[in-house]
Amino acid sequence: MLQTSSTNTVWLTCALPPRQGLTGSLGSPGILKWGNKERHCKRKVGPAKITAQFELKPPPYALNALEPHMSQETLDYHWGKHHRGYVENLNRQIVGTDLDGMSLEEIIIVSYNKGDFLPAFNNAAQIWNHDFFWESMKPGGGGKPTGDLLELIERDFGSFERFMDRFKVASSTQFGSGWAWLAYKANRLDVGNAVNPFPSEEDKKLIVVKSPNAVNPLVWDYIPLLTVDVWEHSYYLDYPNRREDYISTYMDKLVSWEAVSLRLELAKVLIAERETKEDERKREGEEKLTGNEDPEEEMYLDSGTDSEAD
Ligand SMILES: [Fe+2]
Repeated sequence: MLQTSSTNTVWLTCALPPRQGLTGSLGSPGILKWGNKERHCKRKVGPAKITAQFELKPPPYALNALEPHMSQETLDYHWGKHHRGYVENLNRQIVGTDLDGMSLEEIIIVSYNKGDFLPAFNNAAQIWNHDFFWESMKPGGGGKPTGDLLELIERDFGSFERFMDRFKVASSTQFGSGWAWLAYKANRLDVGNAVNPFPSEEDKKLIVVKSPNAVNPLVWDYIPLLTVDVWEHSYYLDYPNRREDYISTYMDKLVSWEAVSLRLELAKVLIAERETKEDERKREGEEKLTGNEDPEEEMYLDSGTDSEAD
């Protein structure tokens, strides 16, 4: 959680991927900290050992706080039933497996298994996605971003209005259940876990992507900044058979651009750290190569000395 200077509290747990691309820069995957707050997805670890249980994390506002745009009834079902179900299912699935003890992000990456999902993937990813979704909204949200985020949106989409159109089209055209995302693409192309959906595009730019079912951009090493849940369970009570109305209301009345901006700033910091670490590794590698040449030089000199002795 990040405490901002305003009275609003912006929750950023689950905001960024501490694994894959960024993991290398952060050391231990799953230990993502910002300020003095812990990463999301709390786990209960029993004193005896082994069993670590993920907990259902509540949205960072009251369940009726998004009304009239998203009703308490929807939150009761969506968070209280569906999200809870993912948590309970995952906890049952990982007990006694190699996944038990991993962070949620690690489980997502490992169980994605290059697109050949292991059984835990859907529940793990849905927990992460929903935490991220709740934290993407706030009462009195919507409007227009400012600062670096707006500048990047205008640079990469042409204008805020064009971005909004792109995002709404992506989310409304996702076939069946899934998600739409605004993500920061800063990965190299050798992500190792998946085929990069846009391998010809340059790095370090904002992109809009959609994903089926539980898939999220972490598996492509993209950094999610915003998402909308387009599973029918997210809108069928308030907007029956009207996904486009739900998406428009979400973008116009509920999105917390403050949270998105903070995620972008955090992404930049993490990417800079990753690049610094990569530069250090590269330099160390070069120094190692250079160091390996020294013995040959000594052998040459020793040989010369022997010649003189002869
Ligand atoms: Fe959902």
